[in-house]
Amino acid sequence: MRLSDRQIKKGECHMVQVAVLGHGVVGSGVVELLNKNSASIAKKAGKEIKLKRILDIREFPDSPYAGLFTKEFADILGDGEISVVAEVMGGVHPAYEFVKACLEAGKSVVTSNKELVAQKGAELLAVAREKDVNFLFEASVGGGIPIIRPIHQCLAANEIDEIAGILNGTTNFILTKMIKEGMAFDEALKMAQELGYAEANPSADVDGHDACRKICILASLAFGSHVYPENVPTRGITTLTAEDVQYADNAGCVIKLIGRAFKTEDGKVYAMVSPALIPKSSQLAGIDDVFNGILVRGDATGDVVFYGKGAGKLPTASAVVGDMVDCVKARGTIRSLQWEDSAENNVADYKTVSTTQYLCFQGENCEALCRDAFGTIQSLARKRRPADEFAFITSEMPEGKLEEITGKLQAKGLTLLSAIRKLDY
Ligand code: HSE
Repeated sequence: MRLSDRQIKKGECHMVQVAVLGHGVVGSGVVELLNKNSASIAKKAGKEIKLKRILDIREFPDSPYAGLFTKEFADILGDGEISVVAEVMGGVHPAYEFVKACLEAGKSVVTSNKELVAQKGAELLAVAREKDVNFLFEASVGGGIPIIRPIHQCLAANEIDEIAGILNGTTNFILTKMIKEGMAFDEALKMAQELGYAEANPSADVDGHDACRKICILASLAFGSHVYPENVPTRGITTLTAEDVQYADNAGCVIKLIGRAFKTEDGKVYAMVSPALIPKSSQLAGIDDVFNGILVRGDATGDVVFYGKGAGKLPTASAVVGDMVDCVKARGTIRSLQWEDSAENNVADYKTVSTTQYLCFQGENCEALCRDAFGTIQSLARKRRPADEFAFITSEMPEGKLEEITGKLQAKGLTLLSAIRKLDY
């Protein structure tokens, strides 16, 4: 049961009871922070936050919180004293059903679940609004980095022109190893797995899906209509080679996996995830290892860059608990954290948007054919370049045109070894 304004004004309630759905890495971090920093958290929330229940299907007999565990979601949903729920289970199902039921029951929900927000954000925000409670998800993008709240609160005076970010720590670790230590992709991935950064099945990271979910959330928030992951062209880092890294270096760039979004002139949203050559002078170029960095371009502020730990137990738990505090403080739905659902595909056709690319071809008469087809180019060098290989950066043109020319060169017998966008941030 939510506290009424009358109760709050009269100071009748000095405590809010909360529950956590999931006791994995992030969930245990949430419990740890609520306990460790309880006094300062209470001060900021204006009330003591008391953990009443933890949902998990596993047994935790040795946990100091053993008495709080339940395997029955109904124990939390049906408990009128629990007014704020943290969902940190991950995955869309049953997280979606649990979150929706909690909101419908008048409980505020906070989550770190980017898959859930990217798929169901518009719908869950609408349910929260209808029930005058909150659905908050600061932890879903950038782990411990504040990014959701800055966009809809601190930068509220701005029109957001563009967002671009290194949104996945695992791939950034792999790329850093490839760039700084000359490692091959497979070797760097193995190291990331050994260090516990990448999952045993790392497809969500290395194929770009995790970054895609995050740019969808940021784009939906910044531009006001839900951007669905299935509409966003997404490419990961699995095909990058040490040779690409060397050519990028020759161009004064590093390769980063970038999630990017901006509004096009016809009111659609351009959104994509792909590796990109970034000038070494860019603020994004120096973001290495498992760190994330997100650049937000406001029409009043210019570029603002957010940097920090994009994953991990306590950084992510920090964002989850911060949202719990906001739920406790809020008087009804926070109106600035809203976007509408999009009935039609609101994502612009990437082929109409201008870009430059780094291209690498191989074949007989390679350089002459490429120069003839592309006109003005910046040729690139690397050590031990075979005579039949030619790499260069194109001039700017619509991506569809670029693909057309590339296709014609392939039809003439050249092999396309690499095609990676070059971005100037
Ligand atoms: N797998 C994600 C990453 C975890 O590597 O960034 C945080 O979302």
